[in-house]
Amino acid sequence: MRIPLTILLAAVLSTYAFVTPLPDDDVVDVNADATVHLGLFVPIVAKSGTVENVTQFLASAVPLVEAEPKTIQWYAVKYTNFSIPTFAIFDTFRSEEGRVAHLNGKVVSALFDNADALLDGAPDIKPAKIVASKVASKPDIGNATAWLTVGLTIPLTAKPGQVNATREVLVGVLPGIEQEALTLDWYALEFPDTNSFAIIVFFASEEGRNAHLNGQVAAALFASAETLLTALPDVVEFDVVAATIK
Ligand SMILES: *[C@@H]1O[C@H](CO)[C@@H](O)[C@H](O)[C@H]1NC(C)=O
Ligand SMILES: *[C@@H]1O[C@H](CO)[C@@H](O)[C@H](O)[C@H]1NC(C)=O
Ligand SMILES: *[C@@H]1O[C@H](CO)[C@@H](O)[C@H](O)[C@H]1NC(C)=O
Ligand SMILES: *[C@@H]1O[C@H](CO)[C@@H](O)[C@H](O)[C@H]1NC(C)=O
Repeated sequence: MRIPLTILLAAVLSTYAFVTPLPDDDVVDVNADATVHLGLFVPIVAKSGTVENVTQFLASAVPLVEAEPKTIQWYAVKYTNFSIPTFAIFDTFRSEEGRVAHLNGKVVSALFDNADALLDGAPDIKPAKIVASKVASKPDIGNATAWLTVGLTIPLTAKPGQVNATREVLVGVLPGIEQEALTLDWYALEFPDTNSFAIIVFFASEEGRNAHLNGQVAAALFASAETLLTALPDVVEFDVVAATIK
């Protein structure tokens, strides 16, 4: 039996609201100056024949995201070396209030409205903690979609007992990432209550991506993989479909 997506959405949001109750409307965003430390990572699989439609839908979401004051960075990407037609949305927040506002906002609602027609299954909304980040994209870059062109996503699964060590390694490589001039936006994510992490990283060019893949941080991460992770990470390449930065 197929469950209508609106019901799934309600289920996703009510589960979410259970762990993170909606704050009162009059709560001030005390984290307005904090670094982004919360995110959502949402892989999306297109139905066969709807890749163009999903691409257009994601590009069309930019003005909606721009109208959300507490959604700070928002990226929509299309995996390019992956066996099934997969996209992902990654966005960041300075507060739980901002994240909840986004989940209840127009973009997520439009995504679920389009899911039956365009997607192979409901979007899988994964709340993440950002354990370390470098964000070179600032609002003054202008059109972020034009600036950020390609990237990588690297899912990591820690062995039991190695979750803290994996987190420490991800935090520990940040100085090396800061040294990589062509690595623009880099996020290390932790999915709470799982053994799962992910790296998501953006570049202005293929040259930047190659430099990162051949650099010291990538080598260090691969060197620690056997100790920390259940398997060597599967690096996935993507093109940036749309991005907007506050
Ligand atoms: C996808 O886009 C094409 C071209 O605009 C359109 O003809 C088609 O109806 C769209 N498909 C869906 C499922 O919306
Ligand atoms: C931003 O750049 C992208 C890619 O070059 C382009 O498709 C889009 O129209 C631009 N957006 C604006 C608002 O200029
Ligand atoms: C992992 O880290 C958390 C929080 O930093 C701590 O509470 C916990 O005891 C640590 N677990 C282990 C197995 O060291
Ligand atoms: C995708 O690209 C990455 C980075 O270049 C590579 O490590 C990985 O093996 C590729 N995956 C596939 C399925 O081709």
